[in-house]
Amino acid sequence: MSFLEEIQRRRTFGIISHPDAGKTTLTEKLLLFGGAIQEAGAVKNNKIKKTATSDFMEIERQRGISVATSVLAFIYKDKKINILDTPGHKDFAEDTFRTLTAVDSVIVVIDVAKGVEPQTEKLVEVCRMRSIPMLVFINKLDREGKDAFDLLDEVEQKLGLHVTPMSFPIGMGYDFQGIYNIWEKKLNLFSEKSKTSITESIEFTDVSNPELEKAIGEKAANTLREELHLIEEVYPPFSREEYLRGDLQPVFFGSALNNFGVKELLDAFIEIAPSPQPKKSEERLVDSKEEKMTGFVFKIHANMDPKHRDRLAFVKIVSGVFKRNSPYLHVRHGKNLKFSSPNAFFAEKKEIVEESYAGDIVGLHDTGNFKIGDTLTEGEVLNFKGIPSFSPEHFRYVNNADPMKAKQLFKGLDQLMDEGVAQLFTIEMNGRKVVGTVGALQYEVIQYRLEHEYGAKCTYEPLQVHKACWVEATNPKNEEYKEFLRVKQRYLAKDKQGQLVFLTDSEFTIQMTLSKYPTVKLHFTSEFK
Ligand code: G4P
Repeated sequence: MSFLEEIQRRRTFGIISHPDAGKTTLTEKLLLFGGAIQEAGAVKNNKIKKTATSDFMEIERQRGISVATSVLAFIYKDKKINILDTPGHKDFAEDTFRTLTAVDSVIVVIDVAKGVEPQTEKLVEVCRMRSIPMLVFINKLDREGKDAFDLLDEVEQKLGLHVTPMSFPIGMGYDFQGIYNIWEKKLNLFSEKSKTSITESIEFTDVSNPELEKAIGEKAANTLREELHLIEEVYPPFSREEYLRGDLQPVFFGSALNNFGVKELLDAFIEIAPSPQPKKSEERLVDSKEEKMTGFVFKIHANMDPKHRDRLAFVKIVSGVFKRNSPYLHVRHGKNLKFSSPNAFFAEKKEIVEESYAGDIVGLHDTGNFKIGDTLTEGEVLNFKGIPSFSPEHFRYVNNADPMKAKQLFKGLDQLMDEGVAQLFTIEMNGRKVVGTVGALQYEVIQYRLEHEYGAKCTYEPLQVHKACWVEATNPKNEEYKEFLRVKQRYLAKDKQGQLVFLTDSEFTIQMTLSKYPTVKLHFTSEFK
């Protein structure tokens, strides 16, 4: 296979959902189709296994939360599929946000009964901001749920999407008969008794065909005809260009647990989903088909073995071919590095590989060279854009609890922040350190890891902050900005990149500040230039 064919056959994507919508079940069913696993339950088992072997902390083990953003790869119909797993737990949302910088498209899973849930809203917003192509899978059709049209409305309104159904359910819950596949013009019927498999898949290019009555009964046939008519009137036809631009989101219905509608989803997905996309760097746009290797670190998974501080840096290859033992420029350090044992991911295993192509993820063993966002190239100075920090939800002062170990504490904090565990802010006025996290759980993680990996102890002190806002002065020399800096100095801090951040205590303060200092802009993410 040629270099270009290798790249064009890759599909790298993430599945996002609110916890419990069925992301794990769907992932597993996709792997089953790819022949990557033999039995149902393997992914779930893997979840537990992961917690036992590679998760780095006792407290995580106790809580049973896996924070690993792993990669599941398999071949299906000659396409190389890379699924980047995203933690569903909201305390690890930042991890998921970062993973979304490494995907070329996304599948959004929604529970038919619960509809759009808060975590879905947050994640979809991030995808929308980046115009990532999204495909929606409405799951659990074997259960009683919301009306399909109401759901489509909800998806449009709450998620700000522009949808077009590619399949449509016939009945629901107890009356669920199957799905009309608008995309392939086929009727897929559920087996009546067990509701566990597709009994028939009938070609139905024209639903006015009276055979439809025979297949699903008169009432259901009439309803389906009316619904399809309505769909044609209300929703735009599917356009791949619009989908790829992020302007149109195709919707599929099914039941992951019963393996219903999943193959249809996968078949449509590999047809329409994009191969590795070009990526912006500060210097230029990098195309995946360029021959020279470029890539960036989007995730660092620490510490398989706390004694060795060994970490695995996950690199998304943006262009070219990554080769084992080749020298690559670590742009931030300006030095060449070679990797003798890059890991590639296949199904649930990782193994050492000689070559990986644009679109793939390689795992590099690291002893502290990398931080999130670092770029590797064959010599060109490039810095990939787009791993923003978002305002944390929780803020606490961090204090050193062991004066003899100040150095260890700062080193530990520094490295943990490089991994993206949390964000560190330094108050301008007095140099005090503030740790900001997405979930309260991270404070325990940090405390535990500082002690076990760096031999340092810390305590926390509460701090009343509503949101961290990144400050942009549209006119840094004017008196207004100087006054802003003077009046707010107690609440101003620098993030790790040295950007100015305003730690606000309420929405009211944000509004007041904006109206009082119109030349000062406040941003909720670090990436606004
Ligand atoms: P998540 O990764 O998004 O958190 O969801 P997960 O796949 O773990 O699914 C959450 C629950 O929903 C699981 O049940 C799963 O079996 C169920 N589920 C997934 N897809 C379907 C579906 O199509 N129909 C129905 N009826 N249920 C579905 P659980 O009881 O929490 O776990 P388990 O005991 O079944 O493993």
